[in-house]
Order: sequence, then C-alpha cells, then structure tokens
Amino acid sequence: MNENPIGIFDSGIGGLTIYRKIHQLLPYENIIYLADSKNAPYGDKSKKNIIDLSEKNTQFLLKRNCKIIVVACNTASTNAVKILRKRHKVPIIRTQPGIKPAALNSKTKSVGILATQGTLNSDLLYETSQRFAKGVDVTHQIGEGLVKLIESNKIYSEEMTGLLKKYIQPMLNKNIDHLVLGCTHYPFLIPQIKVITGEKVTIIDTGEAIARQTRNILLQESLLNSSKSNPKRYFYTNKDKEVLQQVLNRIDSDLIAEKLDF
Ligand code: DGL
Repeated sequence: MNENPIGIFDSGIGGLTIYRKIHQLLPYENIIYLADSKNAPYGDKSKKNIIDLSEKNTQFLLKRNCKIIVVACNTASTNAVKILRKRHKVPIIRTQPGIKPAALNSKTKSVGILATQGTLNSDLLYETSQRFAKGVDVTHQIGEGLVKLIESNKIYSEEMTGLLKKYIQPMLNKNIDHLVLGCTHYPFLIPQIKVITGEKVTIIDTGEAIARQTRNILLQESLLNSSKSNPKRYFYTNKDKEVLQQVLNRIDSDLIAEKLDF
C-alpha cells in the first residue's frame, strides 16, 4: 500500500504548481497526475458539473490504486471535496485560497483575492472570510480568461499582461498589501504579477502548505513510502499533450506527458 501512488488532479496544468511542491517535499513518492484539460476551465461551470467531473477524476485515480487524492484545484476543492470525502475512504487533501494568512498579516487591512467564479462563489470561501477576515476589506476579482490563456500556452502574451493589469490595478488602488492567488494555475503568472504589484504587495500561494498537509496526513496514516528508489511519475492529459509537456519540461526534463481518455 505505501508504494501506491499519490493521485493529483486539476482541471488542467495548474495543479502542476502543487505537484512541484509535493515532489520537492516527498521525492520518493510515486505520483499520478491528471490534467482534465478537455473540461477546463471548471471555474464557470455549475456546482453539480464540478462535482461530477471531480468524481470522474477521483474514480480514475482510485482505479490506479492511489493511496491519497490531492485535489490540486481550488474550484474543485471548494465545490466538491465535502462530497468526495463522504463518498470515498481514502484521505482527500484540498487546496484553499490563503485568505487567513493574508488577513492576519495585512497592515493596510485591505487584501485582494484573484480566483475563479466557482471558487469566489463557494460557501467555503464565504465561511473562511467570515472566520478569518473580520475587519479586513477583501476585494474579490474573478480571473476570467486567465485559465484559458494558460491552457493555450499563452502565459507570456500581451493578452495576458492586459488582463492581469485590468484585474490587479483596481486592487492596488484600494491599497491592498496582500494578493491571494486562489487558483492553482495562477502561480505560473507570479513573475508578471510582481511587475504589476511591485515589492509592496505580498503574493500568497498555498502550494507549500498543501504539500506539507499531504505529508502530514501520509505520516499520520502510516502511508509514507519507505522505499528510496526512483519514483514512478505519470502525467496524463485528455487534451493537448504538447501543452502539458512544455510545462513539464520547465519543471524537470525527465517527465513525460501522455494522452489518455478519461
Ligand atoms: N486550477 C483551477 C483552480 O485552482 C482552475 C479552475 C478552472 O479550471 O477554471 O481553480
């Protein structure tokens, strides 16, 4: 069982920002990564649709004997994880926008969150804001179009720079000192975002925290892989293999993208 893989899924390549942190922290774990790019973006889909897609991905990973599932997608996490946990026995790790650290550390009492419509409208986000961001002005901004551009390999395009400026400048006008990245695709945009925000704004990306949480749960459940051999890592997409491969090349030259129907 301990040699069984960690299963990670996202609506596309965004969850690779989480994969990266998990592999850094747990370098001997076998991993299966699913990019459901055929169905991306999840962000403007109905809750039911997001739950059905998350269930499909989970079923696929469980058939491959995954010992733990990491939902490396904020939209799926905020909308579907409660139900997935009721339906399945394996531990399920969820991602969550880092509103808590942003609100706790804000000096200007003004923070911004950039996320998908599905995440911003979720009960979980509302509850988190109510609990941890009392007295802090939280500006919500839907990152409409960002996931589509990232999935089309247009991270460094004029269109992307234009959208980022349009979304971030109004938050800067509100004197935010923290910007929460509430979508796992967005950490790919950090260099461009920093050009817009400058040094005064702290960007919150919860990738490392999710990796630590994954390790803690594996430890707690005695599921860590004790073997120190080279891990097997599989990266599947149901759309464009090249898009996945290009991102993998930037992470580690050994990684291979495969196309599958799921
Ligand atoms: N990576 C997903 C997230 O964290 C992207 C959502 C989408 O597909 O719209 O929310």
